Amino acid sequence: MSRIFSGVQPTGNLHLGNYLGAIRNWVALQEDFECIFCIVDLHAITQPQDPDDLRAHTREVTAAYIAAGIDPEKCIIFNQSMVPEHSELAWILACTTPLGWLNRMTQFKEKAGKHRENAGLGLYAYPVLMAADILLYRATHVPVGDDQKQHLELSRDIAGAFNRQYGVDYFPLPEPRILGAATRVMSLRDGANKMSKSDASDYSRLNMTDDADAIALKIRKARTDADPLPETPAGLEGRAEAANLVGIYAALAETGAEDVCHQFAGKMFSEFKNELSDLAVARLGPIAEKIGELKADTGHVDGILRRGAERAGAMAKQHLREIQDIIGLLRP
Ligand code: TYM
Repeated sequence: MSRIFSGVQPTGNLHLGNYLGAIRNWVALQEDFECIFCIVDLHAITQPQDPDDLRAHTREVTAAYIAAGIDPEKCIIFNQSMVPEHSELAWILACTTPLGWLNRMTQFKEKAGKHRENAGLGLYAYPVLMAADILLYRATHVPVGDDQKQHLELSRDIAGAFNRQYGVDYFPLPEPRILGAATRVMSLRDGANKMSKSDASDYSRLNMTDDADAIALKIRKARTDADPLPETPAGLEGRAEAANLVGIYAALAETGAEDVCHQFAGKMFSEFKNELSDLAVARLGPIAEKIGELKADTGHVDGILRRGAERAGAMAKQHLREIQDIIGLLRP
């Protein structure tokens, strides 16, 4: 029995990387698997958030899931904080997670920066909460972008540590599913950095809410080099920005970099960018429009989250009771 779990932080500026690395892949999975998709607001508050923005972004991510094609009838869609069992299991798992494992997490090091002593405990414990999200539903597969690989390895280690400590085979070891031609979309301004919600420059990313003019402008301004497109992807080596645009085109066209190089070999990037713009507008435009409509109907969006939380909560409560019994925690 396979069960899928994944999530996105409601921290604003949902972008093409979130779409191609994660959300779009979930749409296909919902046809064949039981799927649970979360808006991880408790992860978002590991860094300061304005309360009104957090509420708006939680609804926006929900709207983006639905606009991208995730069906709230087929899947469970909910926000993490509505199911308090996530926090409870995070504490339980924190008790079996050695500090040494957390000290290896590169995302913590990046986010904490130079002033590690000032970083919050929540930011440090972030990957334990992520393990709790997945293991609370005894999920078997987790579709994410490439940057979450290390966190998922940790989730597997934590599941194994719990099973060993209590001599049970309770948690499946969750497997990452890193899918598609764009598992790591890079910034449009700098091919050495990944596209990110927190980049100060809006020109670094295509937002899922961008209109056609914004998409065209950002692609036109995207950094490339003076050489034409090569005949094969081997010719993109050492050309991070060029490789990124080819990868984005391939992912949007649902093909591979081979095909894209073959199709555009010898063309200049100015010409390729026009084609990429048209494709991006055709793929992302309707999603942005639908997100706009859904955002205007907060009652509808909130109803979906409430229903999702009821369904997720029922499963979470049952599993937490089983976990409490394994550990020896008395419960009502
Ligand atoms: P978040 O909100 O940073 O990212 C959400 C998803 O988008 C993917 N992603 C990318 N993929 C390709 N290229 C990029 N530039 C890019 N940027 C982001 C991420 O890999 C992710 O799949 N820790 C998670 C949220 C989380 C979670 C979970 C995920 C919390 N609990 C349980 C899976 C299961 C995160 O940072 O997401």
